[in-house]
Amino acid sequence: MNRFSFLLVLSGVLACSGEGTPSALRAQGQAACSTPATSETVRVMEGLRPHCEGCHSQGARGYFASTEAFQALLVSDARMVKPGSPDESELVRLLEGRGTGAFKQMPIGQKSYAQLVTEGTATLSVADIRAWVQGLAAQQRDPRPNPDAPRITRMSATQIQRALYQQLGLGHDDYFSSANEFGIPMAESRGDDNYPLQPPDALPMPRQNISGERYHALGGGSVINQVSHDRSPSPTFVLTLTQVSQRWCRRALAKPGNTVLFPTGTPRTANPEDVKATLRRWSLHFLGERFTDAQVDALYAGVFVPLATPTDTEPAYVGVCSYFIRHPYWIFY
Ligand code: HEC
Repeated sequence: MNRFSFLLVLSGVLACSGEGTPSALRAQGQAACSTPATSETVRVMEGLRPHCEGCHSQGARGYFASTEAFQALLVSDARMVKPGSPDESELVRLLEGRGTGAFKQMPIGQKSYAQLVTEGTATLSVADIRAWVQGLAAQQRDPRPNPDAPRITRMSATQIQRALYQQLGLGHDDYFSSANEFGIPMAESRGDDNYPLQPPDALPMPRQNISGERYHALGGGSVINQVSHDRSPSPTFVLTLTQVSQRWCRRALAKPGNTVLFPTGTPRTANPEDVKATLRRWSLHFLGERFTDAQVDALYAGVFVPLATPTDTEPAYVGVCSYFIRHPYWIFY
């Protein structure tokens, strides 16, 4: 993490020419008109991070989302940090418990940052932070958004559903059959035991066993489309994805003629070589990267073997299949 931040700092461009065309600026790299973070700034950010990032890693005050965010949203905001003048910097005042705005202190809660330092919970001293502000050069802030910044979207349940359908070889028909109600086409659930997933406003609408609760737990609709990204999947999301992935993996493995998980000719046995070949293929299939032999061995020994019985490999294959879906690198579209 640290090393990554430093790399970003090094790649920053120092000068703002003021005469670049937008495309020239884009070619130079966006940092063109803003002061890049110094290594001391990065040190301060890392020192504060454990006490702040829980509340400040997204949105308008997402200072701790990245080095650039810390630099652009906090360090180069003269209302918060006044270079050369710690006493006039609201950030310092907040850390010392004498904020002048709506909040007296940061972090909010019982103890100010200065108190956390005194009791040993925080390690970066307030004196260090004051010295950093004291020595900070004048900051220039680029008001334009970074055209190279990754656009992150909050995943909607529909995207999760689509990814699972595609990766497991499942589809609408596995969960619903056609029905009619008062002449209106409806979807007849094949049973809630299959964990069907359908948005409440989907067409055709599920006639019964409305699966809205599961749908919302997996992210619902993407209402704040492309504005914000929830970095921390909620416990409800994880719980629901765990249940759905286990149930759906089982269904995918049981589906006759489904070649998505086991392409024609690939053996589905308990033979270690066959199993490991499958795990290697699934790592590419679900995560987009091929596991190393060591990773395959660990997954085989840690997940597959404990779940397999001499006569039944199904629970073991379900276990590794849903392992991949809960993996942080799981790909969804
Ligand atoms: C428990 C949650 C929480 C923690 C932890 C926290 N903050 Fe905040 N912070 C807030 C809230 C809430 C606001 C109010 C503004 C908002 O985000 O809408 C805020 C506002 C701020 C502001 C803007 C103040 C202003 O007057 O506009 C700064 C600067 C700030 N926090 C810095 C920090 C720093 C630095 C830390 C760590 C030492 C920290 N915060 C820890 C919740 C938190």
